[in-house]
Amino acid sequence: MIPMLTAHGASIPTIGFGTSQLGDCTDVVATALQLGYRHIDTAWKYGSEQGVGNGIKKSGVARQDIFLTTKVSHEYLRAADFARSVEESLSRLQTDYVDLLLVHWPTIDNIPLAETMDALAKARREGKTRFIGVANFNIALLDEAMRLCPEQFSVLQAEYHPYLDQSKMLAHCRSKGLIFMAYCPLARGGIFNDPVLGEIAKAKGRTIAQIALRWLIQQDIVAPIPRSGDAKHMRESLDVFDFTLSADEMQRIHALKRADGRIANPAGRAPAWD
Ligand SMILES: NC(=O)c1ccc[n+]([C@@H]2O[C@H](COP(=O)([O-])OP(=O)(O)OC[C@H]3O[C@@H](n4cnc5c(N)ncnc54)[C@H](OP(=O)(O)O)[C@@H]3O)[C@@H](O)[C@H]2O)c1
Repeated sequence: MIPMLTAHGASIPTIGFGTSQLGDCTDVVATALQLGYRHIDTAWKYGSEQGVGNGIKKSGVARQDIFLTTKVSHEYLRAADFARSVEESLSRLQTDYVDLLLVHWPTIDNIPLAETMDALAKARREGKTRFIGVANFNIALLDEAMRLCPEQFSVLQAEYHPYLDQSKMLAHCRSKGLIFMAYCPLARGGIFNDPVLGEIAKAKGRTIAQIALRWLIQQDIVAPIPRSGDAKHMRESLDVFDFTLSADEMQRIHALKRADGRIANPAGRAPAWD
């Protein structure tokens, strides 16, 4: 059983499973679920929704035992487009509802945030999603979104790994009672040659991936969603609940943050990060 994090009624597995860049992920998702993952993160933009839907069916795990997240892309933030995007996602996922619906990125077309937030709240009221939130918003945008949205947020999803300082956003999420869902938790593989992580991994008899994930989940509101196409790695990433990092080890990993550590930073779409 994976420990859960809770926020405003939502109960979310501490470690989830990412599905970007996997192509047809039917078998990968089925394997992940069979190995014990209970949160699958997808998005229209990844082209993985159909595979996720198929993988859930193939896994034999009951839909109600899975926490399923999808996202509405920045192209679809007008109310009618938003509703259509949600319907199409549900159809590809072969389910009546998702557990978490996120706005994937802020608008780049000056679509009023109030209109998008009404559409997000409506999706929740209509039972198309149990919980809501946003991804890739900065603190000011997150606050504005929460002010405008008639329904309570549970989650902020954003990039987070040892090379990226997210202390401001983390403190903010903590103050709002939100779960910080960490994407690119392994920096897309960019941390695997790190000497400090390597040293800590060796001392603990763990892998670098496990050390990075443990560092994230030890920050009490962080729920990483690593992606893997490899069953051995999938198992390893779930096996991080039976050891702890010392305060000194946590600090050494915090010190790895870099000014250029951000990976997902699309020009013209990314907000002014905190
Ligand atoms: N909201 C957003 O805008 C946004 C943006 C980016 C990502 N995301 C979500 O976050 C998820 C994760 O981020 P990501 O896919 O970019 O990168 P990631 O999870 O940081 O890294 C994935 C890479 O790490 C490797 N890996 C995974 N587990 C491993 C392990 N235990 N040991 C060794 N290598 C391991 C994988 O290779 P193998 O396949 O060989 O294991 C893969 O190359 C995405 O799939 C997506 O669902 C959201």
